[in-house]
Amino acid sequence: MSIRAVICGTGHSVPEKILTNDDLSQMVDTNDEWITQRTGIRERRICSSEESCSTLSIQAAKEAIASSGIPPQEIDLVVLATVTGDYVFPATASLVQSEVGAVNAGAFDVQAACAGFIYSLSVAEAMIKAGTIRTALVLGVDTLSKFVDWTDRSTCVLFGDAAGAVVVRGETDTDRGVIKTVLLSDGTGAPHIKMEVGGSKHPFQDVKSRGLGDYIYMNGAEVYRFAVNAMGDACCKCLEEAGMDVSEVDLFVPHQANLRIIQSAAKRLGLADEKVFVNVDRYGNTSAGSIPLGLYEAEKSGRLKRGDVVMTVGFGAGLVWGANVIRW
Ligand code: UT7
Repeated sequence: MSIRAVICGTGHSVPEKILTNDDLSQMVDTNDEWITQRTGIRERRICSSEESCSTLSIQAAKEAIASSGIPPQEIDLVVLATVTGDYVFPATASLVQSEVGAVNAGAFDVQAACAGFIYSLSVAEAMIKAGTIRTALVLGVDTLSKFVDWTDRSTCVLFGDAAGAVVVRGETDTDRGVIKTVLLSDGTGAPHIKMEVGGSKHPFQDVKSRGLGDYIYMNGAEVYRFAVNAMGDACCKCLEEAGMDVSEVDLFVPHQANLRIIQSAAKRLGLADEKVFVNVDRYGNTSAGSIPLGLYEAEKSGRLKRGDVVMTVGFGAGLVWGANVIRW
């Protein structure tokens, strides 16, 4: 009997501070109408100076572990997707591992931007299926508000902070769990979303780094063009490889970057509105946090029930994109 990687607990964490479109219109030359019409975003959550990638992650992880009912000592691996970890190193996954009492787990971060949760879940699933591990804590978390240029209206209105977590366990005799994943990348699109300074090419302390981008840069129109095709392509490929039809999907939980991108992907896939999960209006683009936060809210609100087929898809800096189909 083959092993399936079953999601058996979910958790989340968002900062308390809410930043509305009206608040932003006091900071840069923008307004609620523009932001709502172009993106669907009405408000987003922003970290305080005491909050960071690890604080949100630890809260989300503790909730996921409690809801799974699995003792933290039984977790074999912590995989955390982020591009905004507490430090360049050590990995934020290690900070989470010790705080949640996962004393027998290995830990590492995965860097795949807004597709990060799909990538990190696929790593855990592969290791579970190979028999290397039985139980994993998988997180997607980002705190992009810390890296946004708050004078740049073309980016600062888009992003928010959030963490989502799941506990995944290998089980036999079940049709639940991750059914199929596709992961894709096209590095020729790397210039379209980036933060140049802080890595080994342009270290912070290097004088040559002065004048280079130490905030998020994004060519929104290029990313938009890429995203509308990438979302549909990844979902079609994933369903085809799973031998499934889109009619078998009960809920679509896409990366929440922009309502127009979500709607165009749903239209291409032929998914009715009631099958499409949207919370971009309340959180904005939370990067790797977006999909696990969506799964968490969908489950808590009763839209995602045990046995349902859920399809997730994400895209972001890299460029990277991917999708997975899961029986909940
Ligand atoms: O997680 C993955 C990462 N990113 C994404 O998914 C983002 C993908 N891209 C997008 O979502 C959209 O391209 C944006 C929402 C970023 C922009 O929407 P758009 O419809 O592509 O607008 P635009 O960039 O073509 O700008 C249209 C106009 C420009 O003015 P002009 O040149 O026509 O006079 C901008 O300067 O809107 C202006 N503009 C704004 N106006 C008011 C840009 N940002 C703002 C703003 N408020 N915040």
